[in-house]
Amino acid sequence: MLGADAAGIAAAAQILRAGGLVAFPTETVFGLGADATSNEAVAKIYAAKGRPSFNPLIAHVPDRAAAEKQGLFSAQAAKLAEAFWPGPLTLVLPLAPTATVCDLARAGLDSVALRVPSHPVARRLLAAAGLPLAAPSANPSGRVSAVTAAHVREDFDGRIDAIIDGAVAVGLESTIISCLGEKPALLRPGGVPRAAIEAVLGEKLAEAESGAAIRAPGMLAAHYAPRARLRLNAKRLEPGEAGLDFGAHFPAATNALDLSPKGDLVEAAAHLFGYLRQLDAHYSAIAVAPIPEEGLGEAINDRLRRAAVR
Ligand code: TXA
Ligand code: MG
Repeated sequence: MLGADAAGIAAAAQILRAGGLVAFPTETVFGLGADATSNEAVAKIYAAKGRPSFNPLIAHVPDRAAAEKQGLFSAQAAKLAEAFWPGPLTLVLPLAPTATVCDLARAGLDSVALRVPSHPVARRLLAAAGLPLAAPSANPSGRVSAVTAAHVREDFDGRIDAIIDGAVAVGLESTIISCLGEKPALLRPGGVPRAAIEAVLGEKLAEAESGAAIRAPGMLAAHYAPRARLRLNAKRLEPGEAGLDFGAHFPAATNALDLSPKGDLVEAAAHLFGYLRQLDAHYSAIAVAPIPEEGLGEAINDRLRRAAVR
C-alpha cells in the first residue's frame, strides 16, 4: 500500500512506466491502472481481473489536450468534454491518427474510450506517469467494484504491484457516451445523470442498450474479422497457410508468428491483436496453434473463435 503523498505517487508512476499494475482511487471507483500504450502492460490487467473476454478499457488522460491526441472530437463530444471534464464521464470517440493507446486496450476497435478524472490522486498520478492509463474498475471480473483500498487489497493482494490509498466520491462508474454515430448514445449509465448530459447537448441521447454495441458477439465478430480464413487448434501448417503459433508448436518458419514461444498466456494476449493484423495483411489463410483454455487463454480463444466466424 502506497500513501497518496509525493513519495507514494512517484513510486507508483515508476511502476507504471516499467509496465506494472497500480490500483488507484478515482472519483468514481478504484481503478486498476496500467500503461495504456503497452499491450504487455494491459495484458496484465486482464490477467489480474480474470476477464473472460477482452473488453475495451477506458484510457484515463490528464486533460483535453491529451484526449485530443487519442480521439477525434465531434462538436457534441467537445460540448460534453467542456461541461463534464474533469469528472465521471467517458467519451467513446473515433481513434485519432496520433493515438498511442494500444490495440489490446481498445480490444482491437478503431475507437477509444477516454476519461479525464477529477480525483486529485488520479490527476497527480497521471501527471507523474506521463502516460495515458488504462484502468478498469479494480475488482475481479464479475465482482462488485472496489470503493476502498481495503477492498482492492482483499481481491488483489500479491497479484498487483501497488495500491495507492485514498477514498472515492461517486462509488459508481463513469457514464459512458458513444460519439461514434450521428447522435451521441448512452452506453453505460453512471456518475453523470442522463438529464444533465441531454441538457448540455440540447437533444435526447440516442437509445443504445447498455454496452450492447460492443458486447454483442455479432458486432464484435464484424469488427475484428480478419479477411483471412482462420483454422483453430491446428496441429500443423498446411501448404499456403500462415501460422499463428503458441509455445513453439509449429516448426519455425518465416510465415509464422509465435504469440509466446515460452507458452506464457499473458505474453500471448499482449501480442494477439497485433500479430493477427500482421498476418492478415499478407496471407489469406491462418492456422492457429492450440491455446490452453485456462487463465487468459479463455479470452484469447474467445477472441479467436469470433475472428474465425465468417
Ligand atoms: O468510472 C470508471 O469509468 C472506472 C474508473 C476506474 O475510471 N473505469 C471503468 O473502466 O469502469 P472499464 O475499463 O471497466 O470500462 C470499460 C467499458 C467497457 O465495458 C465498455 O462498455 C466501454 O467502457 N468501452 C470502452 N471502450 C469502448 C469502445 N471503444 N467502444 C464502446 N465501448 C467502449
Ligand atoms: Mg467494472
